[in-house]
Amino acid sequence: MQAFLSSSIPATSSYSRSSSLLPQPAHHQAPLKISAPAPGSRAITAVATRAGRPRRCIAASASSPAAATKATTEVPAQMKAWVYDAYGDASVLRLDGAATVPAVGEDQVLVKVAAAALNPVDAKRRAGKFQATDSPLPTVPGYDMAGVVVKVGSQVKSFKEGDEVYGMISEKPLEGPKQSGSLAEYTAVEEKLLARKPAGLDFVQAASLPLAVQTANQGLERAGLGAGQSVLVLGGAGGVGSLTIQLAKQVYGASKAAATASTAKLDLLKSLGADVAIDYTKENFEDLPEKYDVVIDAVGQGDKAVKVVKEGGSVAVLTGAVTPPGFRFVVTSNGSALEKLNPYLESGKVKPVIDPKGPFPFSQVVEAFSYLETGRATGKVVISPIP
Ligand SMILES: NC(=O)c1ccc[n+]([C@@H]2O[C@H](COP(=O)([O-])OP(=O)(O)OC[C@H]3O[C@@H](n4cnc5c(N)ncnc54)[C@H](OP(=O)(O)O)[C@@H]3O)[C@@H](O)[C@H]2O)c1
Repeated sequence: MQAFLSSSIPATSSYSRSSSLLPQPAHHQAPLKISAPAPGSRAITAVATRAGRPRRCIAASASSPAAATKATTEVPAQMKAWVYDAYGDASVLRLDGAATVPAVGEDQVLVKVAAAALNPVDAKRRAGKFQATDSPLPTVPGYDMAGVVVKVGSQVKSFKEGDEVYGMISEKPLEGPKQSGSLAEYTAVEEKLLARKPAGLDFVQAASLPLAVQTANQGLERAGLGAGQSVLVLGGAGGVGSLTIQLAKQVYGASKAAATASTAKLDLLKSLGADVAIDYTKENFEDLPEKYDVVIDAVGQGDKAVKVVKEGGSVAVLTGAVTPPGFRFVVTSNGSALEKLNPYLESGKVKPVIDPKGPFPFSQVVEAFSYLETGRATGKVVISPIP
C-alpha cells in the first residue's frame, strides 16, 4: 500500500489553526472565448489516448513538466483546454486547441498548469447540479492545480514569475466558480488562494491536494476535533477521507481514528494512520458498539453517522442528506491555510495519496472523469502532464 503514498522528508513543524471562513470573493471573470466545437474534437481524445500512458511513479519536482518553464516565457493568446458547452455526462467534454488564455486581474497571477486533479464536484457541476449559482457556459472545468507563475497582476505581493504554487482556483466552488478552470494550460488565480508548492512534493502530488486537504481540514476544524478525541471517517480511502484520517492524527492529535472502506482498501486505511479499519462490505459501522467524538461523512450516510456519535459530539456531512445534529459545510479556498499545512506535507507527516491508475495524461481527461465517477477511486485522480 505504500505505493499510494509519497515519500517523506523528516522535519518538525508546528501548526496553528486559522478560520476557514473568508470574505466574499472578488471575481475576475473576463469573458471566456472558446472555439466552436470541431466535428473531430472527440477524435482528438481518441487519437491522443493511443499515445500511451505516463510513467506510474511520481517524478521529482525538478523534472516535472513545468519546471522547464522560464519566468520569461512569452504567454500565448491561446491555449489547449478541456471545455463543455452544455451540461451532461463526461461525453460533453471536448478538447479545444484554441481557447483564450484568461486575463489576469490585478490581484491575480497567471499559472502555467503542470498538473490538475479531479474532484467529484467537477463532475456534479458538469452534470448541471449547481446551475443556479454556476458561471455561464462554456466552462473549462477544474478547481485543483499546481504549476508555475508566469505573470503577476499589479497588486500581487506574495508571488513572482517562476514561483511554483498550488491551490484551489475558486474561493467558493459552488458560488460563481471560475469559468476558466484548471484543466487547461493556463489558469488565472487570486494570490490569496495560492500557496507555495511544498518543498519535496512534485507537481502531481501538490495538485492532488488543495480541495481535498482543505475539506479535510475545515471539516475537522468545524467539527471541533480536539487532541485526545476520537473520529470516524466514512469513506476513508477516497480523496477527502485519506487526508482526513492523516490530518486527524497528525495535525489535530486524535487519539483514535476509525475509517470505513471495502476489503481491498483496509491496509491503506491502516497505513494512513487509522487505528480501526471497518470493512463496510462485512460490517455495518452503525451496529458496532464504539461511539466517536466526531464523525466525518464523505459518503452520504448522514442518517447512520448520527447513530455513532457521542452525546455532544459533531457529525460533519460532506454529501447527501443531513440528519440532526449533523451539519453540512462547503469547502472554501484559502492560500494561507494551505501554507499552514505545508510543514506537515514537507515533513511527510501528511502524504498525498495518488490513485495508482493515474496520473492520466491531458488527452485522457474523459477517461479520468469516467473513472472518478465510478466512486471507486483511491485517493486522488490527477491529470499530468498538461498538455
Ligand atoms: N462539502 C464539501 O465541501 C465537499 C468537499 C469535497 C468533497 N465533497 C463530497 O464528498 C464526497 C467524497 O469526496 P471524495 O473526493 O473523497 O470522493 P472520491 O475520492 O471519489 O471517493 C471515492 C472513495 O469512496 C469510497 N466509498 C464509496 N462508497 C463507500 C461506502 N459506502 N463506505 C465507505 N467508503 C465508500 C470508495 O472506497 P471503496 O472503493 O472501498 O468503496 C472510494 O475509495 C463526494 O460526494 C464529494 O462531492 C464535499
